[in-house]
Amino acid sequence: MSDNNLAIEAMRRGAFDFIRKPIEKVELDTTLENALRQYRLSRQVAIVSEELHADIDQIVGKSPAILDVCKTIGAVASRQAPVLITGESGTGKEIVAKAIHYHSGRPGIFLAVNCSALAEGVLESELFGHEKGSFTGATARKEGRFELAADGTLFLDELGEMPLALQAKLLRVLQDGTFERVGGTQTLHSGARIIAATNRDLEALIREGSFREDLFYRLNVVHIHLPPLRERKEDMPLLIEHLLARINARQHTRIRHIAEPALRKLRDYDWPGNIRELENILTRAAVLARGDTITPELILLAEAPPADKEEDPGQVRLVSLETVEREHVTSVLHHVRWHRGKACEILGISRPALDRTIKKYGLDRTSRP
Ligand SMILES: Nc1ncnc2c1ncn2[C@@H]1O[C@H](COP(=O)(O)OP(=O)(O)OP(=O)(O)O)[C@@H](O)[C@H]1O
Ligand SMILES: [Mg+2]
Repeated sequence: MSDNNLAIEAMRRGAFDFIRKPIEKVELDTTLENALRQYRLSRQVAIVSEELHADIDQIVGKSPAILDVCKTIGAVASRQAPVLITGESGTGKEIVAKAIHYHSGRPGIFLAVNCSALAEGVLESELFGHEKGSFTGATARKEGRFELAADGTLFLDELGEMPLALQAKLLRVLQDGTFERVGGTQTLHSGARIIAATNRDLEALIREGSFREDLFYRLNVVHIHLPPLRERKEDMPLLIEHLLARINARQHTRIRHIAEPALRKLRDYDWPGNIRELENILTRAAVLARGDTITPELILLAEAPPADKEEDPGQVRLVSLETVEREHVTSVLHHVRWHRGKACEILGISRPALDRTIKKYGLDRTSRP
């Protein structure tokens, strides 16, 4: 078992703390003192049960931040309390949500809903279900994700984009576990564990009036924050090794080495798209590599636009309208950190129009103008 899974398991089974080797005497002393103090105060005995699981989709990294995340996962996995996961895009929010479910011992399934991908009405019936005839097109009763996730985990991704009306319904589920299907009168109960994730600053959204403060406090019982990759570059060697092993398995590539200058390029980069961007860059390099080594020219990082692009405003670039559209939309999306609502406002287009443009050019968070 990896060190991090050991930390998760240890905390889940009731360990007081987890210390990595080599052990510092002072750290050990304080930890033991704290443990003794707490033991005298509590009297709780850890219950050891359940067998260990195999490592799938494991969390790697050796930074103190990642160890803390793993310890929290272990400490809260088997509880019912909701969890709020924050962090920039690509920092691992979903993998953490899955780890919580995986270590929870819950019998039910893990279900994810992306709150920003669906229009309000569709999202509502996805989450809560609907009765037959409740709206045009509702030809049959449909169970929502809160019902389907029953004894499992419901992962509400991009929670910051959830419309206010649905936030009120979600608050009620969090308070007493009850809700009604759209168009229904019967009150239903959900036992699903709720994990929410967002890359937005919820407190700023509260000030702006687009996120409910009471919902924030309900969800914020357990908060896991994933720092950006640029603040924990010590995780990079392990991440690169882990991601390359996965890429080799999925892409049938056989990468064994990275040339030192290539590694330096990776290390010096800022990683605005975090681990997802690292994975994309490595996948491209692995697929294009001839042989078993990633060389520096295979590492194509999104650099800041060359200065001469901006220096001569009088110069006309002879490119197609499509190129200009693609670059402009990409740069606006990048600027607003993929908040589609804001991007629509700036661009002066509707949400469906923006979605069509994103699809047309195959844009994602790692696209750069
Ligand atoms: N600590 C980690 N160890 C191993 N893999 C990781 C780690 N963090 C992230 N990854 C991998 O990086 C990719 C992005 O992670 P994930 O989808 O969980 O991020 P996210 O925060 O949900 O991103 P987004 O905001 O883009 O949805 C996934 O392939 C995931 O497996
Ligand atoms: Mg995600």
